[in-house]
Amino acid sequence: MKKVVLAYSGGLDTSCIIRWLKGQGYEVICFMADLGQGLGQGENLEAIESRAFAAGASKVYIKDLQDEFVEDFVLPALQANAIYEGKYLLATALGRPLIAKYLVQIAHKEKADAIAHGCTGKGNDQVRIEVAAGILDARLNIIAPVRTWEFQSREEEIEYAKTHNIPIDVTKKKPYSIDRNIWGISIEAGILEDLTQEPPEDAYMITKSPTSQASYPKYMEVYFQKGVPKKIDGRVYKLKTLISHLNAIGGLYGVGRSDMVENRLVGIKSREIYEAPAATILHTAHKELEALVLDRELSHFKDIISLKYAELVYNGLWFSPLKEALDGFVKSTQKHVTGSIKLKLFKGNCVAVGRKSAHSLYKKELSTYGKEDKFDQKLAEGFIKIWGMPYRR
Ligand code: ARG
Repeated sequence: MKKVVLAYSGGLDTSCIIRWLKGQGYEVICFMADLGQGLGQGENLEAIESRAFAAGASKVYIKDLQDEFVEDFVLPALQANAIYEGKYLLATALGRPLIAKYLVQIAHKEKADAIAHGCTGKGNDQVRIEVAAGILDARLNIIAPVRTWEFQSREEEIEYAKTHNIPIDVTKKKPYSIDRNIWGISIEAGILEDLTQEPPEDAYMITKSPTSQASYPKYMEVYFQKGVPKKIDGRVYKLKTLISHLNAIGGLYGVGRSDMVENRLVGIKSREIYEAPAATILHTAHKELEALVLDRELSHFKDIISLKYAELVYNGLWFSPLKEALDGFVKSTQKHVTGSIKLKLFKGNCVAVGRKSAHSLYKKELSTYGKEDKFDQKLAEGFIKIWGMPYRR
């Protein structure tokens, strides 16, 4: 019998996919990646697992990949200052290559012929999973049932699940399409498709409304060592815990919301809202620290690299040679990114209000307008003459 490893979420689509793939003559092995989406928080894991078996899975793998996710995927993107189209901190996009990596790994272990996923044919995620898997093992077949199967609507899927005795919990379905992991939440569909409408409060899951908050700000200090966030207010955390902690605090102050119309790789413009409190805080602090310790040439050049890096992540090219080469560049820029940034969180904003680093290139005796001034102003005249010389006629 042919074998397939399916990226299983526990929801309606992927549960129906199990049964559907069986109908195509496959033995179905399910893989669930825990990337910090809150697995087991609402519905317990046993219930999700038994749904997979009830739908016809022969085996279910559940792996907690949160540490690997933050260390090997989130951290490099943070150090690269990778932000897509100025607003999206790439939570969903960063999770996909990791899921693909394990789909391939489990397929090898189980001697499977194919891998499968529940992405639609209109999004970026199908591209990310398939391109990543293809780079890791070009021989594996890829099955994307949602692109080809007969169901036209959610109602038809629910009908199918009923006829095949797949226990589905359809009661508490939100009117949105949501993807969540520890780095952030992506929310689309429903009323959000109307570009004239402000996102309703109920669309947000982990950030409080900036208008409903205390009238006092929250100060905190984030310490980085060679580009790795290590401490908050002097306390050491491992990366995963540090991120969870910042999600909780940032969420309370409404930090990390964004509402954007973005360009998908497949050519569609779509409206999506995001919540990423920790990512927003860490990106803000990291960028501020770099402003202090990187020289002008490196800093400006790195901004160009950041754009490209974000594009590669967004477009599913995580395992590409260019992305690997850029990682080498980014790593070398982090040598001196050690120091502390004091932040102020207030009504949805997060701004740097204090900076400290032993590698700081800021020299007060040069920038000051006070009497400690050491800058030789007479030198400016010659500098300006030579600098402007090529343009004089
Ligand atoms: N637009 C984001 C991306 O392409 C998120 C996609 C998944 N979003 C969702 N709401 N399910 O990375």
